[in-house]
Amino acid sequence: MRITIIGCGSIGSKLAKAADGMSEVKRIYLMDANKSVAERTAAGMDKAIVIDSVEEELYHSDLVIEAASQEAAKEILPKVVSRGVDIMIMSVGSLVDDDFRAMVFEKAKVSEAKVYIPTGALCGTDGLRSASVDELDEVELITMKGPRSLLGVEYIINKGIDVEKITERTVIYTGYAREAVKLFPKNINVAATVSLLGIGFDRTKVTVVVDPEIKSNSHELRIKGKFGEMTCHTYNYPEPDNPKTSHLATLSAISALKRIVRNEWFGV
Ligand SMILES: NC(=O)c1ccc[n+]([C@@H]2O[C@H](COP(=O)([O-])OP(=O)(O)OC[C@H]3O[C@@H](n4cnc5c(N)ncnc54)[C@H](O)[C@@H]3O)[C@@H](O)[C@H]2O)c1
Repeated sequence: MRITIIGCGSIGSKLAKAADGMSEVKRIYLMDANKSVAERTAAGMDKAIVIDSVEEELYHSDLVIEAASQEAAKEILPKVVSRGVDIMIMSVGSLVDDDFRAMVFEKAKVSEAKVYIPTGALCGTDGLRSASVDELDEVELITMKGPRSLLGVEYIINKGIDVEKITERTVIYTGYAREAVKLFPKNINVAATVSLLGIGFDRTKVTVVVDPEIKSNSHELRIKGKFGEMTCHTYNYPEPDNPKTSHLATLSAISALKRIVRNEWFGV
């Protein structure tokens, strides 16, 4: 299999190195808006070639993996699926717009391209996926983060809050996923994943809490429905090179790639 990775930051660089060790992967095309980042990632890899745009090797790629940004995902998704190439998306918030999502999935259906969305930094998506086959009454995500994970979030800055000066556990957002995904574009992709798996962006409740004491980014997923009730708590350690991203998100991308290249679907 030949893969293209768009974005060689915290997730993309580790995914690229993991892919380099997978015998099923024959070639890895690497692209980053900052070419030197892609070149740094490629150094020491056996199968990597740095490219300048996703189109460059699209005809030679079996799978494109986006690990860049919501903007990048919005740009490349239609191009990739239109050509019938499979795609894995990490910036899941890019799918919040209903018209855009419908357009992408329609193109994918016509071209028979597959769209993969890894579970990301969250446990409990397996139960949610099954539970959503019957009626769901409530889906709620409560995300707790340390201040460093929320530095630079425009919504918080505009509210005049300095997250580094917060001294006790503070709720900084309550609302629904459709808004949350836009207000926290780099912090809460899991809210988009949960919405897609469950009851949608307008009914999935989201709460964001800042806690200056915690060392992990935690997600609590609460679900009620015909199946019963489920609460699933994930305590994630952040990636040292990007505190906004949890290590489990990187691992979920690597594990998704393993399943795809080996065509092994345990626990589907
Ligand atoms: N699904 C999840 O659970 C989950 C969890 C964590 C992060 N994410 C998302 O995954 C994406 C990658 O995360 P990360 O921690 O690796 O981020 P990062 O900031 O460490 O790396 C992103 C890389 O993408 C590059 N990039 C940005 N725009 C680009 C473009 N248009 N074309 C090519 N390259 C571009 C940047 O130069 C950077 O090197 C982010 O959007 C992030 O929000 C998803």
